[in-house]
Amino acid sequence: MSILNKHKILETNATLLLIFSFLVVTIGGLVQITPLFYLENTIEKVEGMRPYSPLELTGRDIYVREGCYVCHSQMIRPMRDEVERYGHYSLAAESMYDHPHQWGSKRTGPDLARVGGRYSDDWHLDHLRNPKSVVPESIMPPYAFLEETLIDGDHIEDLLRTHRLVGVPYTDEMIEQAAADFRAQADPDSDFDGLLERYPGAQVRNFDGQPGISEADAMIAYLQMLGTLVDFSTFTPDASR
Ligand code: HEC
Repeated sequence: MSILNKHKILETNATLLLIFSFLVVTIGGLVQITPLFYLENTIEKVEGMRPYSPLELTGRDIYVREGCYVCHSQMIRPMRDEVERYGHYSLAAESMYDHPHQWGSKRTGPDLARVGGRYSDDWHLDHLRNPKSVVPESIMPPYAFLEETLIDGDHIEDLLRTHRLVGVPYTDEMIEQAAADFRAQADPDSDFDGLLERYPGAQVRNFDGQPGISEADAMIAYLQMLGTLVDFSTFTPDASR
């Protein structure tokens, strides 16, 4: 009797069949899942990625609060029409510091993953104040209150600490300097060398052109850095991963 005939025992006994199916699925599952526990990181390392600066992170928090993701995605899919419209497709590493991620599932407005640098700060300010003033057919709601709401960065240390708790590599120094970095980024007359050392490529400007730091400053700082950290003229995907 060959081993193949024995298969009949399984096929005619429901309980045995269930037990053996369970075993097969368990082994298959373990083979797939166990190696992941021994990998330090499943995300390809990409040069240029760094945690958000305190001001950018604040802007991101406001972005989450206002639910911008309800109308905007932040993930460019690797398809030709998307890449031609929005730029290089999004890399996993580009959202590695995002808690929660803002990939979104609906595009009433365009994808924002690479909106950084596409418009001037003034354009963003006008657009947030009244979208129709720059895009007459726009159905985006106005967010004029952002520039009227001043923020002090009092809780910025706690915000960074919270993000460190979920795995963002903020150092003790970054947390200590959070309030100072928060103010320095919106003030081109400040001493911002430390900020640039901690957050390479951080853009330092008075984003809303008005005295004081407003929610619009934080929001525009965030929008203007989106998708700008990785230099795609030098990036080559690692196909072995
Ligand atoms: C009700 C849906 C809706 C919501 C909510 C919304 N937007 Fe928009 N947004 C749009 C639409 C539609 C456009 C395209 C027309 C335009 O440029 O105004 C747009 C355009 C934009 C653009 C220009 C993108 C480009 O590439 O031209 C930016 C930046 C933007 N939105 C930011 C935001 C931010 C920040 C928020 C949250 C504070 C937000 N939007 C909330 C619908 C929305």
